[in-house]
Amino acid sequence: MQKHQQLKILLVEDDQDSMNFFMSCFQEEYNILCASSGEEALEYFEQEDDIAMVLSDQAMPGMTGVELLTHIYQQNESVIRIIITGFLNTADIIAAINKGHIYQFIVKPWELVQMRMVLSQARGTWQLRRENDELQKEILTQNYLLTRANKHLHASKETLRNLSISLFTAREEEQRRIAMELHDELGQSLAALKMQTRIMENDFLTAEKKQQEKIKNWSTVLRTNISQIIEDVRLLSKNLSPVIIEDLGLDAALQQLINNFTEAQGISCSFQPAPLQDITSTDGKRIVYRLVQESLNNICNHAKATHIDFSIKVDQEQIFLSLVDNGKGFHVQEILARPQSRRGIGLTAMSERVKMLGGTFDIQSIINQGTTVSFTIPFDFNREEKK
Ligand SMILES: Nc1ncnc2c1ncn2[C@@H]1O[C@H](COP(=O)(O)OP(=O)(O)OP(=O)(O)O)[C@@H](O)[C@H]1O
Ligand SMILES: [Mg+2]
Repeated sequence: MQKHQQLKILLVEDDQDSMNFFMSCFQEEYNILCASSGEEALEYFEQEDDIAMVLSDQAMPGMTGVELLTHIYQQNESVIRIIITGFLNTADIIAAINKGHIYQFIVKPWELVQMRMVLSQARGTWQLRRENDELQKEILTQNYLLTRANKHLHASKETLRNLSISLFTAREEEQRRIAMELHDELGQSLAALKMQTRIMENDFLTAEKKQQEKIKNWSTVLRTNISQIIEDVRLLSKNLSPVIIEDLGLDAALQQLINNFTEAQGISCSFQPAPLQDITSTDGKRIVYRLVQESLNNICNHAKATHIDFSIKVDQEQIFLSLVDNGKGFHVQEILARPQSRRGIGLTAMSERVKMLGGTFDIQSIINQGTTVSFTIPFDFNREEKK
């Protein structure tokens, strides 16, 4: 018969004959340790960590079987506990069930067939419990790994967000530098050119009458062109870096953006401003400005709208911005499903910018009715600068 080496049984029996009989029946199949008292059994239990089953006689000098199995249950719940007894009173049975959580009662004198069956069933139960324990350990390990992966993911998201903010800040700084260069260098040079043209104009007044007229006309065209270039450079510089935010604050900058937009595009706009002085972070102000600017650009480039409702609301925790146009609308899902290479970057940039501030971005559009772009931005994004 195959010996179940892994299955170690601790037999606790004070009667030598009963012990010998058990050994002679099962020592071929199981790895059996024998103890003649509850105390000795506990010593074995401390030394051997892989005991699968404890079969104990109930009536022994010193510790009873039920008391022993109660101790064992407290030390290791998954060990199978069996009581072998000639007689059990009701109190012992209740204690055996409630405290010792025993697996089986076997009544003395036991029959070989019955004992073999009980041991075999107990072995199955023990194996199931062991597999269950291992599965639970595995679940714990997986849970631990999952929690760790989640933490990493969270940290990566945070890093990505910080990186986006740094990129945004770097880009804004670079644009600001270019804007200054355009203004200071190119703008000034063109202004000088304009002045020189006027000098040239005056000089040529002394030339011959016929040539004078021709040159004067050319000169006027030249001056008009240069004026246009100066205006373009100024506009470009202003768009690159909305210096006005730093000078006058976000409220004024938005108001001016709307004024310029309605004037240039001939689109009416109802604007309900809200005090935005709580936005203290420079990046926050710039991002809000850029969101409105890009929304207006889209209305101007695509919507064919005649009116815009622009509103800003502020509560304790967040800012709500919404721009509603009455233009031609578009299929939002269809546009967003296009690969990035086949669409503009405006909506993506808006969504990324709002994410940087930990907010939400929503766009709803109905064909021939118009488009609503809305942003919710928590004031939380000021936190770095509030510390
Ligand atoms: N208010 C709007 N009304 C109608 N269509 C719009 C509106 N806003 C966006 N769209 C549509 O969504 C598309 C994507 O907008 P998005 O801002 O991402 O790119 P774009 O404006 O085409 O290019 P970019 O912003 O890079 O200059 C637009 O091409 C347009 O078809
Ligand atoms: Mg756009």
